[in-house]
Amino acid sequence: AKEPLRVLVTGAAGQIGYALVPMVARGAMLGPDQPVILHMLDIAPAAEALNGVKMELVDAAFPLLKGVVATTDVVEACTGVNVAVMVGGFPRKEGMERKDVMSKNVSIYKSQASALEKHAAPNCKVLVVANPANTNALILKEFAPSIPQKNITCLTRLDHNRALGQVSERLKVQVADVKNVIIWGNHSSTQYPDVNHASVKTSSGAKPVRELVANDEWLKGEFITTLQQRGAAIIKARKFSSALSAASSACDHIRDWVLGTPEVVFAYFWVSMGVYSDGSYHVPAGLIYSFPVTCKNEEWSIVQGLSIDEFSRKKLDATAQELSEEKSLAYSCLQ
Ligand code: NAI
Repeated sequence: AKEPLRVLVTGAAGQIGYALVPMVARGAMLGPDQPVILHMLDIAPAAEALNGVKMELVDAAFPLLKGVVATTDVVEACTGVNVAVMVGGFPRKEGMERKDVMSKNVSIYKSQASALEKHAAPNCKVLVVANPANTNALILKEFAPSIPQKNITCLTRLDHNRALGQVSERLKVQVADVKNVIIWGNHSSTQYPDVNHASVKTSSGAKPVRELVANDEWLKGEFITTLQQRGAAIIKARKFSSALSAASSACDHIRDWVLGTPEVVFAYFWVSMGVYSDGSYHVPAGLIYSFPVTCKNEEWSIVQGLSIDEFSRKKLDATAQELSEEKSLAYSCLQ
């Protein structure tokens, strides 16, 4: 039998946490034969709610779940963890300045970075979900220098999955038959969902999404804006964040990273992940930026050599620009 892996979920008493922990305990993140020990962190005002979640995890009698740590102590939460899913953060409240929200999150991610660096298992993999996700991940990277930079990522898989969903709805095809959309850049309203390399499996072979949609106006307009605003549309409808789909996508992100993306002969199958830029596609190095990646042997690599047309170039640059500004704002909060 496999040794259990320890999975940290911060903000575990929140909306996403509540949807995520049962998925992890059922094997949706690390596979159906991988036992897990859940570490759940939240802050003092949520301690009682967190304990309620722990009670429910006991009651659900998940066979793969070998233990639960529910705590408000960051060190206890981070100790020995193999995977860290960072969902806790400070939300933007009405009337708050961007800088004030950034400042709160910078201080949270700075201190949690130090705790992870000192106490997590070697080679711990980190996924930041809490917004501003890319910049929180960057701060975490800066303050956990001994964690390999390749191990620190942020979630854009939800946007990627949403793009697959929109294409599938539009073309009335199965979502599993759509592949290789790309989310470039920031997990924000400047993200660029790109279908220029996406295809659909049909009875007569793979067909480009562009050709099947045959409506550039939709692809360059409504498709992009729908995705950029999807999070807000769900909050409007549900009065809460898109917790179910965020939790499910977080599982997809870690699962593909750890177990590998499907290998396809003479073709690619990629997913989108927010990762530390090495300058690929002329994206400034030193930003956490969403790229198309394949994963093998527990490592991601950016898919190289994709053609970028002029329309796309502008979009890639605009979202990079926003991330550079976020980075400066975050650094200004450190002083
Ligand atoms: P929520 O407000 O329901 O839960 C957040 C939880 O984090 C709360 O229980 C809170 O007490 C806790 N928390 C706050 N500060 C903390 C700290 N320092 N340490 C540990 N826990 C702390 O929010 P929800 O809906 O679960 O969303 C969580 C985050 O995920 C938000 O920042 C949201 O914007 C983001 N998000 C990101 C998505 C993505 O695709 N990257 C998609 C949807 C949401």
